[in-house]
Amino acid sequence: AADGSGPLPQMGFNNWNSTHCRDEFNEAMIRGIADKFVSLGLKDAGYQYVNIDDCWANWQRDKDGHLQPNPKRFPSGIKALAAYIHSKGLKFGLYSSAGTSTCEPLQENRGFPGGLGHEKDDAASFAAWDVDYLKYDNCNNQKIEATQRYAAMAEALRGSGRTIFFSVCEWGENKPWLWAGKPPIDAGSWRTTGDISDNYASMLKIFKQNVVLDGYASMGHWNDPDMLEVGNGGMTDVEYRSHFSLWSIMNAPLLIGTDLRKIKPDALKILLNKDVIAVNQDPLGVQGKQVSDAGGVHVIVKPLQGGSHAVVVFNETDAAKDIDVSPAQLGLSPGRYTLRDLWAHTDRQGDGTIKGSLAPHATMMYRVSP
Ligand code: DGJ
Repeated sequence: AADGSGPLPQMGFNNWNSTHCRDEFNEAMIRGIADKFVSLGLKDAGYQYVNIDDCWANWQRDKDGHLQPNPKRFPSGIKALAAYIHSKGLKFGLYSSAGTSTCEPLQENRGFPGGLGHEKDDAASFAAWDVDYLKYDNCNNQKIEATQRYAAMAEALRGSGRTIFFSVCEWGENKPWLWAGKPPIDAGSWRTTGDISDNYASMLKIFKQNVVLDGYASMGHWNDPDMLEVGNGGMTDVEYRSHFSLWSIMNAPLLIGTDLRKIKPDALKILLNKDVIAVNQDPLGVQGKQVSDAGGVHVIVKPLQGGSHAVVVFNETDAAKDIDVSPAQLGLSPGRYTLRDLWAHTDRQGDGTIKGSLAPHATMMYRVSP
C-alpha cells in the first residue's frame, strides 16, 4: 500500500469478461484501455494493472521453445505493449496455464502452449518482456498435483530477476486458500470459485462461496472470487452496486472486466466510487466477515484502520426487506456513531443502528465510526 502497510488487493483490468477470445482482443484495444485508465480517472482512483488473458499467444512456441504472441493480435510484441502501459505509469499482466496448454479454444483439438514443464523458460520470457503480473490458469493440468504445478511457476518467477505478482487461478478445486498463500507458492491471490458470468445468479453463487473464506485471507494473500462484470450489461445497476460493494468488503481483487472504451456513465460511477474503494484498500487489510445471512439478508462487517468499521447489508432475495441492524449485531459497543452512506456519500449521527427498506438484490454500505 501507499503507506507501506502491505500489498492490498490488486486493482486493475482484464479483458476476459468483455471479449473472451474474439478478434477485438488485440493490442489496439489494450492500449486504448491504458489510455482510458488515465482519461477516465481510474488510475487516480487506484486501478493499476492492465492485464491480458487467454488467446494472446501464438499456437506454437518458437524454434527455441519460447512463447510468442499471436502476430495478428499483437504485431508489435508483448514487450512493446508493456512499455506502452508502463509509459502511462501503469503495470502490465499476462496469462498462462499450469498445464500443457491453456483453456481456449475449448472445442478444437489444439491449444495455446501452457507453462507446465516450461516454467523457467516462460518466467524468463515474462521478465524479459517486463511483465508485472501473471495469472496462472488450471487447464490441461495432466492431473499433476496443484501444489506442485503452482510452486514450480512461483519459484521460476522468483528466480526470474523481476518482481512478478502471482495470481493463482485454480478455481478453488483443491482448496487453494489452504496452500496458495504460503511458501513455496506465496501467491498474491487465488481464485476460490469457477468462472463468473454476467448475471445475478452467477454473481450471487460466487459471493456465497467466497464470503465464508475470510479466515484464510491475510495481507498480500487474498481470496479471489473472479473478476468484475460491472458494465457488461447483464445485471441492473442495483445488482452491479451490490457486486462492487460485496467484492470490495471481501477484499477481493478489483479487476474491471468491461471494455472501458465503451463504458456507460452509470457503470463508470460504480467503479469510481472512492468511498467503496477505500474499504477494499483499507490499510488494515482485513477481509470482511459475514455475521448473519438470516432470511437472505447478508450482513458483513470489516474492521478499518483507526477504529471504524465498514458494513454491507445485502438483500439477495426478490422481495424488499425491512432492515434493522444494531451495533451489537455488528460486534460494536453501544455509543454514538457517525454513519457514512458509501453510495449516497452522506453522513449522519446516531446510535449506529442501520435501518431502512432494502430493495430486492440491493445493498446498503456504510462506514460506522465512533
Ligand atoms: C478459465 C479462467 O477461470 C478464466 O478466468 C479465463 O482465464 C479462462 N480460463 C480463459 O481461458
